[in-house]
Amino acid sequence: MIVGVPKEIKNNESRVGMAPAGVFELVKNNHTVYVQSGAGEGSGFFNQDYQQAGATILDTIGQVYAMSDMIVKVKEPIAEEYRLIQKGQIVFTYFHFASSEALTKAMIASKSICIAYETVEDEEGTLPLLTPMSEVAGRMAIQQGAKYLEKPVKGRGVLLGGVPGVAPGRVLVLGAGTVGIQAAKMAAGLGAHVTILDVNMKRLRYVNDVMPSHVVTEFSSEFNIRKHIQTHDLIIGGVLLKGAKAPNLITRNMLKEMRPGTVIVDVAVDQGGCVETTRATTHEDPVYIIDDVVHYCVANMPGAVPYTSTVALTNVTLPYVLKLANMGWRSACNLDKSLAKGLNIIEGEVVYEEITEAFNWEPTLV
Ligand SMILES: NC(=O)c1ccc[n+]([C@@H]2O[C@H](COP(=O)([O-])OP(=O)(O)OC[C@H]3O[C@@H](n4cnc5c(N)ncnc54)[C@H](O)[C@@H]3O)[C@@H](O)[C@H]2O)c1
Repeated sequence: MIVGVPKEIKNNESRVGMAPAGVFELVKNNHTVYVQSGAGEGSGFFNQDYQQAGATILDTIGQVYAMSDMIVKVKEPIAEEYRLIQKGQIVFTYFHFASSEALTKAMIASKSICIAYETVEDEEGTLPLLTPMSEVAGRMAIQQGAKYLEKPVKGRGVLLGGVPGVAPGRVLVLGAGTVGIQAAKMAAGLGAHVTILDVNMKRLRYVNDVMPSHVVTEFSSEFNIRKHIQTHDLIIGGVLLKGAKAPNLITRNMLKEMRPGTVIVDVAVDQGGCVETTRATTHEDPVYIIDDVVHYCVANMPGAVPYTSTVALTNVTLPYVLKLANMGWRSACNLDKSLAKGLNIIEGEVVYEEITEAFNWEPTLV
């Protein structure tokens, strides 16, 4: 198969769909890989690295799309890319179709095969191609939170690890899923006192088993949240209700109960956030302050660490890319039920029910 890796042209996106290690594996399996010149630069991978792994570098994005059977990328195609996608071409990337009717219609019109990272689902119901980004965001939440606790950026002026003779900072983590556990682990590593809340007792039992004793688990209830926000310096929002908006666990009124300079990092901002006052921010302007509480609500946190994010993402996509290239999409999806869940649009037909539901389309229309 001929596999194409274009440069991401969405604003502020420095990740790339394949690292040189992926090229190496594909070429080893007798496939051809075309990489657009400069595609990996934002992630620290240069043309020479790809060439050494066996790729051919093409000058333009148009050439990559025109000459490839399968496109492997990161973000959903933007309007400029719609016309480049070929009939029958496999496009393997994050699509998030339900959030864009224009994208969905364009991909239907393209008659391509759209396999979405975010809907690939394993037997346990987890989403293996989303997990690494939550891991990145969870760990980064503490790094960012620690920075915004500093006084010059209006934080409480607390050092998370404390020093001998001074108690460490206190971190409250809402949700003990992927984001929450990674955040708790980082905070604990810095020496902070950590309280982690969830409604799922299985998750709390797991955290209690694997974390050191200065990570304390409690059941997530309004009573407990109200109590803890008064005494914690940094609050991490890592709650997810699958397919729904995140619940508002901290309301506007509750901000008044926090101490000035408390920092909230609401990682769940991409699902609306678990704090009523959350609104999405960018890496250029990541924070705002309401009632003396610093809010960090960047919707694409992994974008700030493209090297780590690219490698983490491509580690998990590569096995699927190899299957698709070795067997073709039909056989690969027949054999691998997780991958089959990633099929969203096949040659103009929407095959993922949630998409038609999102736009209230009659099934007959698609
Ligand atoms: N901002 C970013 O850049 C970024 C990056 C990656 C992920 N995310 C988002 O972070 C959020 C969390 O992702 P995840 O992978 O950790 O999800 P996850 O499903 O692994 O974990 C979510 C956890 O929230 C818990 N939960 C549900 N209701 C709760 C409540 N009322 N109180 C406390 N806990 C509750 C669940 O039991 C679960 O353990 C998602 O919205 C995800 O999209 C954002």
